[in-house]
Amino acid sequence: MNLKLKIWRQKDANSKGQIVDYNITDVSPDMSFLEMLDVLNESLVEKGEEPVEFDHDCREGICGTCSLQINGEPHGPDRGVTTCQLHMRKFKDGDTIYIEPFRAKAFPVIKDLIVDRSAFDRIQQAGGYVSVNTSGNTIDANAIPINKHDADEAFDAATCIGCGACVAACKNASAMLFTSAKVSQFALLPQGQVEATERVLNMVKQMDLEGFGNCTNTGACEIECPKGISLKNIARMNREYLAASLKG
Ligand code: SF4
Ligand code: FES
Repeated sequence: MNLKLKIWRQKDANSKGQIVDYNITDVSPDMSFLEMLDVLNESLVEKGEEPVEFDHDCREGICGTCSLQINGEPHGPDRGVTTCQLHMRKFKDGDTIYIEPFRAKAFPVIKDLIVDRSAFDRIQQAGGYVSVNTSGNTIDANAIPINKHDADEAFDAATCIGCGACVAACKNASAMLFTSAKVSQFALLPQGQVEATERVLNMVKQMDLEGFGNCTNTGACEIECPKGISLKNIARMNREYLAASLKG
C-alpha cells in the first residue's frame, strides 16, 4: 500500500506544532501501525531528518503507553485494540491518515506524538492501593472468600491499562472512566474496604486538580476504550463518592 501521512510535529512543549505531510510506500497490510511508523522513521533518519517521536513499550496491548489519535480516534479505527495492536490491513491503498497526539489540557504534548500522562499516576497515587499487613502475619489473598460476580467485575475493572484513550475520546477530556476503573477494582473487594472512604474522595479530588473535565455521559470513552471498561464503573464511583461524602 502507498499512503499519505499527515503527522503532528512539535519540537517541544513550548513550541507551536503543525501537521507535516509524508508519503510512505510499500506498506504491508500485515504490519502493525507502529511498525509502519518505524519504517517511516528509518527513512527519515537515512535522509538526515528527525524521526517522529511516539510512545511505545510492550507492543502487545499491555503497558498502555502507545497513544495515538488516528484519523480523529484514539487508537484508530479498530475496536478493542491499542495502537500497537492496530494493523495496516484496516487501511487501504491511497488512504490519507492523520496522526496526532492525544489532546487534553491535562495531557500536555512533550514532543511530536508524545504526551505527558503523569496526571494519571498522581490520581493512582492518591488512593489506588490497599494496605497489607507485612509484619509476618500476612493473610493469603485467596483465604478470603469473594463471590464470583464481584471477583469478575473487579478483574474487569483492573484490566484498565491507563492508556488515556478515554480522556482523548471525551469532548470534555474527562478522566472518569479511568478513575472509576481504579476505584472499582478495590471497591468490589473486601481488601479494598479499609481505605474505601478516603480512596474515592482523594482520587476524585486529584482528578479535578489535574484539570480533567466533567463527565456528561456521552459514552465516547467506553466506545474507544481498548479494554472494554464499562460505564458501569462510573456509576459505581458516583455511588461510592456519595456514600463517602455523607460519611465525611
Ligand atoms: S479506561 Fe480504557 S481508555 Fe481509559 S485509561 Fe483505562 S484502558 Fe485506557
Ligand atoms: S505499546 Fe504497550 S499497549 Fe501499546
